[in-house]
Amino acid sequence: MENEVKVTPYEVKGILDDEEYKRLMKEFGIQGINQALLNRIKKHTKDIHFMLSRGVFFSHRDMDFILNEYEKGNKFFLYTGRGPSGGTHIGHLLPWIFTQWLQEKFKVDLWFQLTDDEKFMFRQDLELDQVKKLTEENILDIIALGFDPKKTHIIVDTKNSKTLYPEAIKVAKKITFSTTKAVFGFTNETNVGSIFFTAMQAVPAFLPSVLAKKNIPCLIPLGIDQDPHFRIARDVLPKLGYYKPSIMHSKFLSGLKVYGGKMSTSDPDSTIWTTDTPEEVRKKIMKHAFSGGQASIEEHRKKGGNPDIDVAYQWLNYFFEPDDKKLKKIHDDYKSGKLLTGELKSYLVDKINAFLKEHQKKRELAKKQVDKFMFKD
Ligand code: TYM
Repeated sequence: MENEVKVTPYEVKGILDDEEYKRLMKEFGIQGINQALLNRIKKHTKDIHFMLSRGVFFSHRDMDFILNEYEKGNKFFLYTGRGPSGGTHIGHLLPWIFTQWLQEKFKVDLWFQLTDDEKFMFRQDLELDQVKKLTEENILDIIALGFDPKKTHIIVDTKNSKTLYPEAIKVAKKITFSTTKAVFGFTNETNVGSIFFTAMQAVPAFLPSVLAKKNIPCLIPLGIDQDPHFRIARDVLPKLGYYKPSIMHSKFLSGLKVYGGKMSTSDPDSTIWTTDTPEEVRKKIMKHAFSGGQASIEEHRKKGGNPDIDVAYQWLNYFFEPDDKKLKKIHDDYKSGKLLTGELKSYLVDKINAFLKEHQKKRELAKKQVDKFMFKD
């Protein structure tokens, strides 16, 4: 079967296994995160987040620059974001949880952009009012993850346009239509707002430098689909006198039904939302999670399962089982046939529901904290 892989901010398709991620690294011109880099990060963070040690965050651009500057006393800021096109799913949380860890360990500021303009312009089915509501909902999920209110600045494109627009037009002036066509696959039928949009996503990568009137290094943790925006930004920003932003890329948390894809908002059966009830979570996982187990219990006991293609196992690996020892035992027991698919899924359900119970509590509390996080211009 042909596996045509495509990764852009507006389309992800194909099965992304280790080989494909390696191929993408070549295609994008990005570096793998190796042990030497992990050791260097650990010097400052004391421990290493499991998303790093397990290769969930697997590649980067210019991390050496970030660490060189940090070691000279020149702190970086973090930047990441969300396009509010629907509710938040657990795949979105992956880069944000890692970003929160970086903020805590390096004690740095975070700029978080909500691109309501982007989702309005790209999605024919969404009105601005709806996007506004989704923006408010998404902000609760962000705050619930425990970012430092004193060091976190949430920007909403249409609300903060007074500050963003004058900077975006400087970026836009240096990007041609042929570049955006090549990078994003736009055509003559693409609306002009969408063609302009990447300029808006570039701005937070240098806005703190504009405001501080001095250059500050920027580190952007993101899912790899967002990298193309910053390939353009990295070309343009030095022309405006700013540093190129550095990047750390994560792999995708796959949807439930197919191992190696990207969880997406368009297939609800494949997706766990942050607002799901425990029953909804159990039902979806038990029914839809793609299994690397055997067809019958007898066969499974005899031959064992394949954790490498099992969505439940992968979700534990990427997100829900931070304890390396427990994860290894699950891996080995599943492989030997001692642990059955139903048992593995049930373990995952309990983990997700414990996480969501806490998250939903914090999400409620976040409603009173929003104002502290919003960037005021
Ligand atoms: P959006 O809303 O599509 O996604 C938000 C963040 O979540 C990541 N992501 C995933 N990561 C792992 N597994 C998944 N299944 C998964 N699905 C989504 C995305 O890669 C992204 O990091 N235009 C952007 C918003 C944005 C932004 C940024 C993102 C503005 N500035 C700076 C990253 C960095 C968007 O629509 O993201």
